[in-house]
Amino acid sequence: MKKLLLLLALSVAGAHYGYSQSTTNITITADDSKLTISRHIYGQFSEHLGRCIYDGFWVDPKMQVAKQDRIRLDVVEALKKIHIPNLRWPGGCFADEYHWRDGIGPRASRPKMVNTNWGGVSEDNSFGTHEFLELCKLLKTEPYIAGNMGSGTVEEMAKWVEYLNCGAETTITNLRKQNGHPEPFKVTFWGVGNESWGCGGNMTPEFYSDNYKRYATYARDYPGTPLKRIASGSNGKDYNWTEVCMKNIGKRMWGLTLHWYTLPTGNWSKKGSATQFDEKEYFNTMKNCLEMDDIVTKHSAIMDKYDAAKKVALVVDEWGIWTDVEPGTNPGFLYQQNSLRDALIAASTLNIFNNHCDRVRMANLAQTVNVLQALILTDKEKMLLTPTYHVFDLYKVHQDAKYLPIKFESPDYEIDGKKIPALNASASVDSNKVIHISLVNLDPNKKISIKTTLKGLSWSTVSGQILNSEKLTDVNSFQNPNKLKIVGFTGASKQGDELLADLPAHSVVVLTLK
Ligand code: AHR
Repeated sequence: MKKLLLLLALSVAGAHYGYSQSTTNITITADDSKLTISRHIYGQFSEHLGRCIYDGFWVDPKMQVAKQDRIRLDVVEALKKIHIPNLRWPGGCFADEYHWRDGIGPRASRPKMVNTNWGGVSEDNSFGTHEFLELCKLLKTEPYIAGNMGSGTVEEMAKWVEYLNCGAETTITNLRKQNGHPEPFKVTFWGVGNESWGCGGNMTPEFYSDNYKRYATYARDYPGTPLKRIASGSNGKDYNWTEVCMKNIGKRMWGLTLHWYTLPTGNWSKKGSATQFDEKEYFNTMKNCLEMDDIVTKHSAIMDKYDAAKKVALVVDEWGIWTDVEPGTNPGFLYQQNSLRDALIAASTLNIFNNHCDRVRMANLAQTVNVLQALILTDKEKMLLTPTYHVFDLYKVHQDAKYLPIKFESPDYEIDGKKIPALNASASVDSNKVIHISLVNLDPNKKISIKTTLKGLSWSTVSGQILNSEKLTDVNSFQNPNKLKIVGFTGASKQGDELLADLPAHSVVVLTLK
């Protein structure tokens, strides 16, 4: 009887405060560490692969869309809206076969090559260094160039840096002037090779790190443009690669990369469809995605041993979901649709990076247009914004904001006796003292009620935005391009000093507290 009365009293109290007993308690605390969520975590990656550069950004002169030169301006405008902070180019695997001199000067006389990595198609080099830097200027984004270490020479990389950044008169800088750019471009983010353990030369970490030092030494800092040299890092869970690079290269690099892709099945020979999957495959996909947290934690711990002051950044310059290609498309072009599942992956991964912002100071989604987990898909003159694009739009509020530590015990999302955390989140406060909390409910069947205490932070109103859809497999298609879009969220309120919210199943919510 006593028990029954207690239960009754608890449920009345619960109803009074508007939350059920399964409420998850969250604590967000003002932080003295002054850690910032670098805007560069929201970086993008565009490779000469499939229809990313050609047909994505750089289109046929006859195509009936607004263009500058051959750069498609509807794509540029959409990307400007989400403030992309940097753009990595020209690869990927392509970078280690790219010879920059082929991509400058009059277009008609540029050499043609075969893109051996991606579909064996002809590359006419019409999009080269100047075109890329013009694109970055239009996007108001910082270029991040991946130099060729795999098949290029130390001299070739050194000359590319001189061509881009040197203000003195030299034969190479005169060539830049002849090609229409008298002033140095001042490119600072500089990758030394890509996936040097694989497509970038199949090296050992010992061989790579010794060679890194040669390439990096002659890639000079010209006055006013100190390079941020980024070494080619680990393939996912290869912790030895990080150990060797930290030991041999250490602070001679600005950053060390990490590549980790989410495969729905975990199997490279049958990765799974982008649009047709059941709940079990969804669960598996999210489990694989959330592994990023553990992988980043382990690489960071190794880096801490050699660099306690965290000077060297962990640069996750390739991440995202990699599925089988859309039926009927070129397998070498890596074209895949983008569903609500992709949005949940993007939002969860960005929460992981935000919460590791002490070490992860740059990341690049693979890839911007028409390839892998794209932000934008195009079909001739048409273009659409994917659910992943909308996540980057929602999350842009975290760029360069102060990190706020967030603590909670997530409810489980369980299937067949296997569990993953259903809730993930991150928080920041911007320069106007506005607090943003991004919350992801991965459970496709249950809502999550949260009750948040904010310590040392003042706020009086809450508003929000949400991305959700009826089914995990829902996509934006050229027939229905706005099926998934951001809408206002009314499920949050202030009760006393606490923030209450109900997060619908499979949703991404960003709350703004002022
Ligand atoms: O993003 C596609 C490819 O994935 C990149 O070219 C390569 O670096 C990685 O294996």
